[in-house]
Amino acid sequence: NFTPNAFVEEMVGELKEKLGDDKVVLGLSGGVDSTVAAVLLHQAIGKNLYCIFVNNGLLRKNEFQNVLDQYKGMGLNVKGVDAGDRFLSELAGISDPETKRKTIGRVFIEVFDDESHLIEDVKWLAQGTIYPDVIESVSVKGPSATIKSHHNVGGLPDYMKLKIVEPLRMLFKDEVRRVGATLGIDPELLGRHPFPGPGLSIRILGDITPEKVQILQDVDSVFIEGLKSWGLYDKVWQAGAILLPVNSVGVMGDERTYEKVVALRAVESTDGMTADWVHLPYDFLMKVSNDIINKVKGVNRVVYDISSKPPATIEWE
Ligand code: XMP
Repeated sequence: NFTPNAFVEEMVGELKEKLGDDKVVLGLSGGVDSTVAAVLLHQAIGKNLYCIFVNNGLLRKNEFQNVLDQYKGMGLNVKGVDAGDRFLSELAGISDPETKRKTIGRVFIEVFDDESHLIEDVKWLAQGTIYPDVIESVSVKGPSATIKSHHNVGGLPDYMKLKIVEPLRMLFKDEVRRVGATLGIDPELLGRHPFPGPGLSIRILGDITPEKVQILQDVDSVFIEGLKSWGLYDKVWQAGAILLPVNSVGVMGDERTYEKVVALRAVESTDGMTADWVHLPYDFLMKVSNDIINKVKGVNRVVYDISSKPPATIEWE
């Protein structure tokens, strides 16, 4: 039986002992896991924790600035690094999902490595790895183990020479949220849906361009804001939009259009290992579909994903 208070007390003590006066660098993602890891470490070692938040150009709309402001308000020592253009130029022309992940993982490490070298005498790298990340990545039960290489697990090159500390690696997502609540983190932040490290890149099927990123950010924003204003956001474990690599015919006024199709995905889950699609109300789907097509230029059709995991996965790539 998991008790967040006891976990926090024990882990803060353990971290103090393990880390002493060493400096620690941590990559914040805006998500629940890295944020809870940061606050936990901040309680243990205070100003010796250096946080870095990288914009990979594949975050949700306005996410980089909003989240950075939020972190600063929490007293964390955080540096925002806007590397969006670098990521997008490295990703240009790449369609294969695993190559996207590997490219983003590599560029992230390059950016992060440059940044962490600016911190004098840093000894540790902290990560918000949680239990499902660990098992999905290190499972040795055949080819499914390599279905997706989660770039934030175990993939560190030797040249970083940092020791790794992962205070959440034995916890499931719901336990992480409970720990976050105990630590006094804003419930809205704790209630945020999970968002993959490779961001919108794996929701843009086919190659990635700045234009496609912007279309998807706009679609995603209409969908997520819609879920919030209809009181549905907290009833869903994860939601997002996918930009499909096909155009479809539509009509607008007297004109025939030939534009992009987007899929909406909303799932219920406890840990992401299995998931069911959410039976969102038809009225909501109707409204959000109209809003997307009216507000986002370049999209003329919206479909809803009614597949569960397994056999589908939550993400399309
Ligand atoms: P799938 O698509 O495997 O997703 O059913 C399960 C959960 O993992 C997230 N996900 C990722 N997270 N890096 C991450 O940090 C990744 O490469 C990655 N791929 C999937 C996904 O959003 C869902 O919550």
